[in-house]
Amino acid sequence: MGSPARPMSPPGALSPAGRKLPWLAPAVVTGGLIPLAVLGLRARAGALGANAVAEALNQLGLLALVLLVASLAATPLKLVSGWTFPLRIRKALGLLAFFYACAHFLTYAVVDQGLDARAVIEDITERPFILAGFVALLLLAPLAATSTARMLKRLGAARWKRLHRLAYVAAVLGVVHFFLRVKKDTTEPMIYAALLALLFAVRIASAALRRRAASRRAPAGSRAA
Ligand code: HEM
Repeated sequence: MGSPARPMSPPGALSPAGRKLPWLAPAVVTGGLIPLAVLGLRARAGALGANAVAEALNQLGLLALVLLVASLAATPLKLVSGWTFPLRIRKALGLLAFFYACAHFLTYAVVDQGLDARAVIEDITERPFILAGFVALLLLAPLAATSTARMLKRLGAARWKRLHRLAYVAAVLGVVHFFLRVKKDTTEPMIYAALLALLFAVRIASAALRRRAASRRAPAGSRAA
């Protein structure tokens, strides 16, 4: 994780290379919405198969998880490659993940459960699989709400960063949710679990290296103190 001494890169900021690529985030948002359009067209054409609701639910849930993991990959990718463009699309990917998670939940609550609040609450309290997804969605909400430059300024970089580490918890819960759903063949959720572990390991290793470099740079007197 980044040290509080390093300035945050606020949404839309210039990279050290200084090029802004203003089209990049809108292109990612547009591209990120294509799967939704395709899903809508397939639903309209009755091409979602015998269990259309489950198919739509699974597609939306999977998109939410893929985009969440992609947004979490931005910083580690920058750390290992030095590329700055991933940081510029991190927010767009995170917001798309939240959007798909909401669409996933709404499909479940409205289409699958027929807006029966009691059935939804019963499901959340009685099925660990649904509870894991629900908590993941709850955790994503404050992150989406504080994703603006204004909220970053209001919270302060250190607090904002601490809050946004919840994205990792939400992703882990999303993977647990996936594990509990698949029951038998756990290959797919295992892939997401391994990816998350790798991203986390890169961040921890980078923080450790930074700490070591900082302690080497510190004058001998201040180290002894
Ligand atoms: C209140 C929140 C949520 C509810 C009620 C919920 C509900 C469901 C349901 C009912 C299914 C299975 C459909 C079926 O087996 O036919 C499912 C699948 C799934 N959900 Fe969720 N979910 C929630 C939140 C989330 C979140 C936040 C994520 C991701 C971050 C997520 C990711 C997934 C994935 C990856 C699948 C499986 C997709 C597949 O098998 O290809 N869900 N969810």
